[in-house]
Formats: sequence, structure tokens, C-alpha cells
Amino acid sequence: MNNIIKIDKVSKSYGSLKAVNNLSFLVKEGEFFSFLGINGAGKSTTINMICGELSKDFGSIEVCGEEVDGNNTSLKEKIGVVFQDSLLDKSLSVYDNLKIKASLYNITGKDFLDRYEELSKLFNLKEIEKQPISKLSGGQRRRVDIARAIIHNPSILILDEPTTGLDPGTRKSIWKVLNNLRKEKNLTIFLTTHYMEEAADSDYIVILDKGTTIAEGTPLELKNKYASDTVYIYNVDEENIKKLDKSYKKVRDGFKIIVKDLKEATDLIIKNKDLFKDYEVIKGKMDDVFLNATGYELEDE
Ligand SMILES: Nc1ncnc2c1ncn2[C@@H]1O[C@H](COP(=O)(O)OP(=O)(O)OP(=O)(O)O)[C@@H](O)[C@H]1O
Ligand SMILES: [Mg+2]
Repeated sequence: MNNIIKIDKVSKSYGSLKAVNNLSFLVKEGEFFSFLGINGAGKSTTINMICGELSKDFGSIEVCGEEVDGNNTSLKEKIGVVFQDSLLDKSLSVYDNLKIKASLYNITGKDFLDRYEELSKLFNLKEIEKQPISKLSGGQRRRVDIARAIIHNPSILILDEPTTGLDPGTRKSIWKVLNNLRKEKNLTIFLTTHYMEEAADSDYIVILDKGTTIAEGTPLELKNKYASDTVYIYNVDEENIKKLDKSYKKVRDGFKIIVKDLKEATDLIIKNKDLFKDYEVIKGKMDDVFLNATGYELEDE
């Protein structure tokens, strides 16, 4: 797979604040890439530089083999962006918003009508197409945002927190459409999100802190490195748990033992099989990865 986005030693300051600091990473063509980090980590700043909306101070950004310098007209054809703050014109209807965006790409007349029909089916726009954006719910607006971003069939779709504030059902339906687009059109998806379960499905993840990469890898690699697995054991006496010589915590109806990995869990269970009658092993989750990598303390449940 080719690298469709190459970020190499990029920095950007706002006055004395270094928002992006010597940042480097790669995104492969067709992959689902997640770009994570706490509020203010520099995600949106990086996105604005990738799509040429903001100039970088140092470093190199290549998209589809072309250096981004703010004057790339062909770049606009290749990238579709759903910005954190919607770009829709609130006073205009859904249909008119899409028509105006399409006209910027010279998609007019029958070409527009065909494309509109396609997107309308994909994002269920029929019943809302005449409504002004200001009258839409958050979820409806997000659907229009995404339709707008892909109206010109870009090869990369950048989504800056596309599902923040949406209910689980709406999030699921948006992801269904996005996943289909990936499969059918080999669309590269570049996502920022604060929902770790969304990132858990990605091919590759970069975690950013203070404008620089602090962790990267596949979800499995990151889980193995940053998230411990947990064994819960129930209906046993604390005396027996003490004998295991592992650190543990009391939980409702039993105890929680943190292990490094599944191998440690398996060894522990096999060695003490008379004790482990009622238990469960929980693999570390992306939430733990994020909290551990960014240095947040994990709260005990
Ligand atoms: N236009 C601007 N002028 C001055 N400072 C800015 C500007 N835009 C962003 N910043 C600062 O740069 C840093 C990075 O901001 P950025 O918006 O890139 O973070 P983010 O990772 O997208 O955060 P969030 O998750 O809250 O969206 C923050 O400290 C922010 O306050
Ligand atoms: Mg942001």
C-alpha cells in the first residue's frame, strides 16, 4: 500500500504556543487511520495543515505525492473534509448547500442531480432536503456535512470528530455508510474522535500529545503495549487470593487481578485451577490505551 499522506517533522506555533511540534506519521492508501489526543493536543491544527487551510512553520506534508503549500488546486479534488465546526450555510436548505459545494467542483446540471440522488440514498436526505440547516438535529446535520465532504468523490475523507454528541444509533448508521464507502471506493479515512470504540476498528492509530506523537501502532499493538489485561475471580476467600502473590483489588463479589498479558493470566489460572472456578479474563481496551499513553490515571470502578 502506498503512503497517501506523509507528515515529516512538521511544526506549527500560534504565537509562543507550539500547537504541533516536530510531528511525523504516515497514512496508507485505503486505510482507516485514527488520530487521537486530548483536547488541545493539536489534531485540528494538523488537519488544517493537511488540507492546505493553514500554513506550516517547518517540515513537509505530502498528500498523494504532492507537497502541500496552500496553492494546490488538485489537492481539493483529492481530499474531502468534515471540519470540527460545520461549514454548512445554516440559512440554506440541505439541497442548496450540496448544490453550491458541487458547483465549486464543476459538478452541475445532470451530473449534480445524479450525484445528489446517490448521496441522498446513502445518507437518507430525501425527507430533509428542503429544510434549512438551522432546523436540523445534530445527527441530521452531520449526515449532510459528510455528504458535502464527499460530493466530489475524493480519495481521502478527513473527519474531525464527526460523531461527537450523536446518539449511539446515529453514530452506528454513519459508520455503516463510511465503512461501505471504504470497501466500495477504497476511500482512505482519517478520523479524529474521542470515542475509543470507534478508533478500535481502525487499521492504524497515532496518539498525539502536545503536538507530537506519543504512541502509534495497530489497535492490537497498542493494547499489548499500553493496556493491561484483567482477571476477575469470584466467590473465593481473600486468604487464597493473597497466596497468589499478585497485586489485587476487591471488587463486588470477588477480586480483580491485573496481569501483564493473556499469557500471564493463562499461567495463573492453570497453576491455580482449583481456585479459578468462577472467573473472567478481560482484555485491555482502547480506553485503557488512551488513558495510559496520555498519562491519565485509570479510575477504579
Ligand atoms: N487559531 C488559533 N490561535 C491560537 N491558538 C490556537 C488556534 N487554534 C488552536 N490553538 C491552540 O493550539 C492548540 C491545539 O489546538 P487544536 O485545535 O489543534 O487541538 P485539538 O487536538 O483539535 O483539540 P480538540 O480535541 O479540543 O478539538 C490548543 O492549545 C489551542 O488552544
Ligand atoms: Mg480539534
